[in-house]
Amino acid sequence: MEFFGVIALVLVGLGLFSFVVTVEAAVRTAPFAASPPAVVQQALALVELAPGELVVDLGCGDGRVLVAAVRAGARGVGYELSPHRTALAVLTVRRAGVRDRAKVVWGDLFNADIRDADVAFVWLTPKARALEAKLRSELKPGARVVVRSNPVFPTWKPERTEPVPGGGSLSLYRQN
Ligand SMILES: C[S@@+](CC[C@H](N)C(=O)[O-])C[C@H]1O[C@@H](n2cnc3c(N)ncnc32)[C@H](O)[C@@H]1O
Repeated sequence: MEFFGVIALVLVGLGLFSFVVTVEAAVRTAPFAASPPAVVQQALALVELAPGELVVDLGCGDGRVLVAAVRAGARGVGYELSPHRTALAVLTVRRAGVRDRAKVVWGDLFNADIRDADVAFVWLTPKARALEAKLRSELKPGARVVVRSNPVFPTWKPERTEPVPGGGSLSLYRQN
């Protein structure tokens, strides 16, 4: 009985921890919402993703962008701050059978290693405006960034913007 009590306490503690971190990520940068498959495909087409390229999803949610990137012949790394969404993304990647080409990292997207990325996928709120400086100083020349819906960057101008079905937009940026 005592053993199960300890297990229950640990589980409640982990749940609370995950809840607090998830709320913190939502308040500081963006809450969770999942991109519809058609929008993910449109984003990969907009950046003209080529086989073998590396896609980083900054705030990868349930990992669906990573799976789509791998199915398009690329590799994927997703960064996610919420512990339970990180776990969900790991499961998504495993279930899709793509874990040899997709990795999920539990951590802050502002600490993501993006130096080798060919494409960065961003669906955050304008609270993530500091991301512009990171992308501009760390992405390699020619890397593309696709931003869903929100004008996240204060000064960087998109090369192209197109509407997505159901409202909102996708914008393409290119590193000099
Ligand atoms: C709008 S969702 C996008 C999910 C996914 N990219 C998609 O398009 O389906 C944004 C995600 O970013 C995560 N997030 C917010 N702030 C973060 C941070 N500082 N570091 C890592 N992930 C963060 C949230 O937990 C949420 O899962």
